[in-house]
Amino acid sequence: MLDRTIPADQPLLVAEHLSKSYGRLQACRDISFKLYPGEVLAIVGESGSGKSTLLQMLSAQLAPSTGTVSYRMRDGVLRDLAALGEAERRFLFRTDWGYVHQDPAQGLRMAVSAGANVGERLMAVGWNHYGKIRDTASSWLSRVEIAQDRIDDAPRTYSGGMRQRLQIARNLVTEPRLMFMDEPTGGLDVSVQARLLDLLRGLVTELGLAAVVVTHDLAVARLLSHRVMVMQGGRVIETGLTDQVLDDPHEPYTQLLVASILPA
Ligand SMILES: Nc1ncnc2c1ncn2[C@@H]1O[C@H](COP(=O)(O)OP(=O)(O)O)[C@@H](O)[C@H]1O
Ligand SMILES: [Mg+2]
Repeated sequence: MLDRTIPADQPLLVAEHLSKSYGRLQACRDISFKLYPGEVLAIVGESGSGKSTLLQMLSAQLAPSTGTVSYRMRDGVLRDLAALGEAERRFLFRTDWGYVHQDPAQGLRMAVSAGANVGERLMAVGWNHYGKIRDTASSWLSRVEIAQDRIDDAPRTYSGGMRQRLQIARNLVTEPRLMFMDEPTGGLDVSVQARLLDLLRGLVTELGLAAVVVTHDLAVARLLSHRVMVMQGGRVIETGLTDQVLDDPHEPYTQLLVASILPA
């Protein structure tokens, strides 16, 4: 169930002075922000600006060189991710968090059935009734517009758009409070992208999900996010409400980005 006990004025995720170096290269520099329950934040910037590195630090997959990420656990306590035990971290990944990869092959098991891909997340949180797992998986397939008679087919037989929708179903079935998405529409045809974005937008709103979406595509930020952070060379150079930043960008770099002059 979505946790309604946490007041929306208390941040869900807090990043403080995050930096990451790979040797002499500074991929992220001194990044701080707060994400509130139900809020969608887009991280935009050209390729190499540090977006994926930041997302990996936010989702506890990469240790920051300096700085901290804290997350408000279901008991309401804000915890430093670096101080969590392995079991607590795994619990977050299985229940409270979702992670949508650009490449569905990284987020799905390509050789097992779609139903098993979704059902697996439920079993990981203790569901053990086969019929209920199958019914829930099947209803999630419909919600992401996959025909229920494809439930026994493996995602390697699916199209790119279907794979991405399946990845979304697999993540959402445990009703996470926070979704991380790295270029969720990246590898898809333009018409398929538009449909997927529409679907994502509906689900995020309906479920009251908080999300951090990394994208180099400002149309994705425009459609999905409340707030946007613009990155350049590992720094956040501009941040604000999405419509304000995209309609009236202050920084010259953001102006170039909005005018689509920079390479993706
Ligand atoms: N594992 C790594 N080892 C060394 N350099 C890396 C690694 N991952 C990313 N980088 C470098 O860090 C910078 C930021 O990369 P990344 O976070 O992937 O940017 P983006 O997602 O915005 O394209 C780039 O210069 C990239 O080459
Ligand atoms: Mg990236």
